[in-house]
Amino acid sequence: MGGREVYEKLERCLSCVRERTEFVPKAAVVLGSGLGDYAGAIRTEAEVPYGEIEGFPVSTVPGHDGRFIFGWVDKTPVVCMKGRVHYYEGYDMADVVLPIRLMKLLGADTLLLTNAAGGINTDFRAGDLMLIKDHISVFVPNPLIGENIDPLGTRFPDMSQVYDRELQDQIKEKAAELGIPLREGVYAQLTGPSYESPAEIRMLRMLGCDAVGMSTVVEAIAARHCGLRVCGISCISNLAAGMSQKALDHKEVQEAADRAAPLFRKLVTESVKAFGSKGWTAG
Ligand code: HPA
Repeated sequence: MGGREVYEKLERCLSCVRERTEFVPKAAVVLGSGLGDYAGAIRTEAEVPYGEIEGFPVSTVPGHDGRFIFGWVDKTPVVCMKGRVHYYEGYDMADVVLPIRLMKLLGADTLLLTNAAGGINTDFRAGDLMLIKDHISVFVPNPLIGENIDPLGTRFPDMSQVYDRELQDQIKEKAAELGIPLREGVYAQLTGPSYESPAEIRMLRMLGCDAVGMSTVVEAIAARHCGLRVCGISCISNLAAGMSQKALDHKEVQEAADRAAPLFRKLVTESVKAFGSKGWTAG
């Protein structure tokens, strides 16, 4: 897809959503595995199933029921993505990041990305939550490849501080208040859908990665390109390949993420509330 086509598709998606709701979100939240039932924490104003949005990529992964949920978390107007699309499903990278750009056009200025991830750091345990400090994107195609979409952002966007310091501080503050231990680290995205080999995990550890997954980084890059403030939290659903005696199994990974969900949900809720309660400095 050329840049113009990508933008035109985005505008069509925008008008499809706008035919269904006029709600203007401030914060955007992408719900990863384990947070599927987060919607309960939102005073819902409108729901828009992805299938009703012309051209919108619809997830094929079991357990990723796809819809936008618009509503309030305390005083913060939010749009939540229940279900995301992954590159391994076979979509163009432009489609994988389309929802992020759409949430920006809907009015969001802040993005919280969540995911389930494999723990690489040997101090981590299944069920830990990790604040994403930085990422490694070099194992997946860059979502900005192709003609630049000038109305969204610049050709060569800076990535020296993808994960906003102020948002990180707010999340850390909330975790401390809630008594939730919060790890910090570098998240690497690989394409999947196969899990990594033990040798790949050793390589990633040598490169300074603390957690690995199949999403999030390309979304963060597209989000920074279009000027969203970004933060991210991983739920360490399992120790990565080779770190335990067990083979990796999607269902077990998902169940482990579900077990960590209550704390994850609390932290996301309190963080989103905090995002709405403080004025922004420029950025
Ligand atoms: N590897 C990649 N993605 C994942 C993992 C993993 O171990 N766990 C959850 N998502």
